[in-house]
Amino acid sequence: MTVKTQNAWNRIRESEITPESVFADRRRILKQLGFVGAGTLLSSSANAGVLDFLFGEGDQAQFARHALQHSKNLTFDHLVNGPLTPEDKVITHNNFYEFGTAKTDPAERAQGLQVQPWQLVIDGEVAKPLTLDYDDLFKLAPLEERIYRLRCVEAWSMVVPWLGFPLAALLKRVEPTSKARFVAFETLYDPEQMPGQRNRFVGGGIDYPYVEGLRIDEAMNDLTLLSVGLYGKTLPPQNGAPIRLVVPWKYGFKSIKSIVRIRLVESMPPTTWNLLASNEYGFYANVNPGVDHPRWSQASERRIGAGGLLSAKRIPTEMFNGYGDYVASLYQGMDLRRYY
Ligand code: MTE
Repeated sequence: MTVKTQNAWNRIRESEITPESVFADRRRILKQLGFVGAGTLLSSSANAGVLDFLFGEGDQAQFARHALQHSKNLTFDHLVNGPLTPEDKVITHNNFYEFGTAKTDPAERAQGLQVQPWQLVIDGEVAKPLTLDYDDLFKLAPLEERIYRLRCVEAWSMVVPWLGFPLAALLKRVEPTSKARFVAFETLYDPEQMPGQRNRFVGGGIDYPYVEGLRIDEAMNDLTLLSVGLYGKTLPPQNGAPIRLVVPWKYGFKSIKSIVRIRLVESMPPTTWNLLASNEYGFYANVNPGVDHPRWSQASERRIGAGGLLSAKRIPTEMFNGYGDYVASLYQGMDLRRYY
């Protein structure tokens, strides 16, 4: 491949700009190069030039090339009202109770998580059950970049550039039967690797494995993503490597990490937080500024930026986290106070 615009890239002095503006700039340059459409993969490392990124060796570069080749011109970026949350915040302020309940625990304790080999089983009410290994996860469907808001029920939020593909692409492959009304998800259960699964105190009192669920129409919605990367790289363990769910109009706890099983089922499956405290966490968990959690008002949120949580700006929370145009019709006629 000939690269004509090396100079254009070299003119940008990375020391002068933040990693996030590097990210934005790479996106512009890649677009100018004609590699990609609006939705694409980008490098996040402020130290790696775009050419290293595209033509380098190793897993990251291969992943990048694959994603670039397959990226589609489809994003929901216009729904994000504000800058990206810096990568160093996205990967150090986490909830992954299998590694402890403090926000810094996952980044500190999950680095050894073995993701290769990995097995993801999709079964249940399907005509064609499927077992995927690690490599399959990246080849299953064209990878897209989706910049989504992530709103935690604890009333903080981020804006994250995910890489992934619609869950619908996978579900169509397995051909759900007419009995498949819900989709149940399960995280890896491996107490040897996950200290929170060995010790109830460390793991926040949760009965593991962590489980989640969606109604089939929610699962098939185009916004519902299976993510395998963020900020242009494969997912770090603390964010749910090698594959996690991202459901941007629901509170973050629905976005289950490190998934090993997806089962199509007839009845509403149990979900971890609902099992733990059903008066606090419902099955639906749609972001709703009008329905408060017993301990947190949901009317506003603190958007995490460069200063982290402490200096995060408080902004009003939007119904369905701002994605109402795409998802409100799923809940027509439902009392969302009752089905919280
Ligand atoms: N998945 C598993 N398996 N275990 C968890 O503790 N926490 C959830 C969700 N997925 C969690 C999980 C919660 S409460 C949130 S807010 C998001 O992950 C956080 O995702 P992030 O750490 O990538 O920001």
